[in-house]
Amino acid sequence: MPAQEINKSVVLTHPSGATANVALYGATVTSWVAEGEERIFVSKKAIRDGSKAIRGGIPIVFPVFGTSEKVKLPQHGFARNNIWEYVGLITDNDEVVVRFALKDTQLTQQQRNSWPFSFRLSYTVALSEKSLKTTLVVKNEDIDTFEFNTLLHTYLLVPDVEKVSVKGLESCHYLDKVKGGEKFLESNDLVTIGSEVDRVYCNVPDHLSVNIGNGSVIDITKSNLRDTVVWNPWVEKAQALADFGDDEYPNMICVEAGSVAEWVKLAGGQSWTGGQVLTVV
Ligand code: BG6
Repeated sequence: MPAQEINKSVVLTHPSGATANVALYGATVTSWVAEGEERIFVSKKAIRDGSKAIRGGIPIVFPVFGTSEKVKLPQHGFARNNIWEYVGLITDNDEVVVRFALKDTQLTQQQRNSWPFSFRLSYTVALSEKSLKTTLVVKNEDIDTFEFNTLLHTYLLVPDVEKVSVKGLESCHYLDKVKGGEKFLESNDLVTIGSEVDRVYCNVPDHLSVNIGNGSVIDITKSNLRDTVVWNPWVEKAQALADFGDDEYPNMICVEAGSVAEWVKLAGGQSWTGGQVLTVV
């Protein structure tokens, strides 16, 4: 079976042996195995009972990144902590493609009060031998324009974050959330991690590559997403997160394609599409 719904998750299996797992809760990708290796980090302390966003995988941030005065929603919005509908298997030719959907009518009343728009999110996960493609379509089913942020909050599994480098961010401006949001220009060809990092790189080229440090490289190609967030909580933040092991920060790096530095405006009746392809090279 190329795609099977088991235990509130959808398991994708590609003839090459690649697999992926998507929890209905948040339509969160929680595993991607390519060339026999797990590529995605999920914390051993992740809460999986639907009471909190899953700490790891690829949670979907929508319609707000962080918190905002404008929108009274919890950090990173509601997409990552609602149960999505499994629309089903779309195709299983070269790629195994499945789709999920979330509509305003599936939200809690409190969430609908805070974000009072009619919308439909459609999220497609496509698995091939070496790639995982995730595409989000936002449909404004209202008459009025709405604004949103979105982000594919991708947690990559790494053997030692201090040996990881991210290529492709040189010459981009970034907002450094560790330094109160101050703006800097990236002067390094390779971005490395040796302390807490929480940066919003703005207007980033569509192609980045992450050297995992063990000979493996993961390419990230984004489309219609302007920014990239790079995050590692390091020692103290890791200790402050109840659903993240104190010793786990060396084993992950978040490289998150999104549109977060500015709001995306979407007129009534219109659709917006954005996404990313992760490829093992
Ligand atoms: C990142 C943010 O995208 O997500 C960080 O830039 C934040 O500031 C991190 O700490 C994790 O957020 P959360 O809500 O999952 O703990």
